[in-house]
Amino acid sequence: MKRRIGILTSGGDCPGLNATIRGVAKACYEKFGDDVEIVGIEDGYFGLINNMCKEMKQSDFSGILTTGGTIFGTKRTPFKMMQVIEEDNVDKVKAMKATYKKQKLDCLLTLGGNGTHKTANLLSTEGLNVIGLPKTIDNDIWGTSVTFGFHTAVDTATDVIDRLHSTANSHGRILVAEIMGNKAGWLTLYAGIAGGADMIVIPEIPYDIDKLAEACEKRKQKGFSIMAVAEGAFDKAEAKMKKKERAKLRAEQGISTATSRIASQIEQLTGRETRVCVPGHMLRGGSPSAYDRVLATKFGVRAAELISKDKYGYAVAMINEKVSENPLEDVAGKTKFVPEDDQMVKTAKEIGIVFGD
Ligand code: F6P
Repeated sequence: MKRRIGILTSGGDCPGLNATIRGVAKACYEKFGDDVEIVGIEDGYFGLINNMCKEMKQSDFSGILTTGGTIFGTKRTPFKMMQVIEEDNVDKVKAMKATYKKQKLDCLLTLGGNGTHKTANLLSTEGLNVIGLPKTIDNDIWGTSVTFGFHTAVDTATDVIDRLHSTANSHGRILVAEIMGNKAGWLTLYAGIAGGADMIVIPEIPYDIDKLAEACEKRKQKGFSIMAVAEGAFDKAEAKMKKKERAKLRAEQGISTATSRIASQIEQLTGRETRVCVPGHMLRGGSPSAYDRVLATKFGVRAAELISKDKYGYAVAMINEKVSENPLEDVAGKTKFVPEDDQMVKTAKEIGIVFGD
């Protein structure tokens, strides 16, 4: 039985996308031999809408294990717009189904984060054979303990924080590192602990600026402090606001994230020199770590297994340290936040890391 498999990468990129694509492809060529054809869909769902597809050869999947980014390209095509007809008059869902049919696909693999999984589930309910693979440096996909890309980003963010120690120490400064993670604080939490941060600020634990300043004061003797702040962090007052209200307040303050505000308030409250470091998209770039290469390969192999069993409508996941899968409908629309009683938070607190709560 011939199988024609479409693969796309959607949303923000991360290290390990190519390693996952390679894992799927290698396992499929092993399993199905000449009975498999792989179609690469360019720029995520945008490419599926616009039939931007290329026929892949087995050799196209060689030499990509170590490369960052995605060989297929990616784009953000927001889920909330998927069922909205815009100026171009295109019915996106209809167009995606048409491409699937035109390309004679037997199934579609979608590598992406939360938004990608929502659209994957939508396509699955529309009758397409879809399998999702969990990608994101944010590690915030529901139902999987880990996503590929996360641990590479933890390594990179840890290196950033490591490097801040010596310069903060030399100048006796407070260094505030902004780590990506708009909704969930996993990356900041892991890198903060691994990098020896003194304070960790994450969206799940709204902060009190006085508590953070107090913690810096307490460290006065040491001469410097390192604070790891998640991009999506907010203070206790903002926590009570609606998203729009918070955005309005920030627009008035001329800020998009809390980091620079935290730094200037800390400087005011402590009288100590404070600097901000934003590694930004560096956290998404570069070669995947050994951990992520292995994880990506395991996830890719699982996807090939699902294809061989014609088991569709699932998202590959790591559950209780075993590679498995969850129904797409269970994953779609949910976010995996850092729970209040998380063991990592407890561990951090036990060694005196301050969260400002
Ligand atoms: O979803 C991953 C992520 O890296 C978030 O942490 C961050 O908020 C966002 O992507 C930024 O994405 P972009 O700049 O590509 O829109």
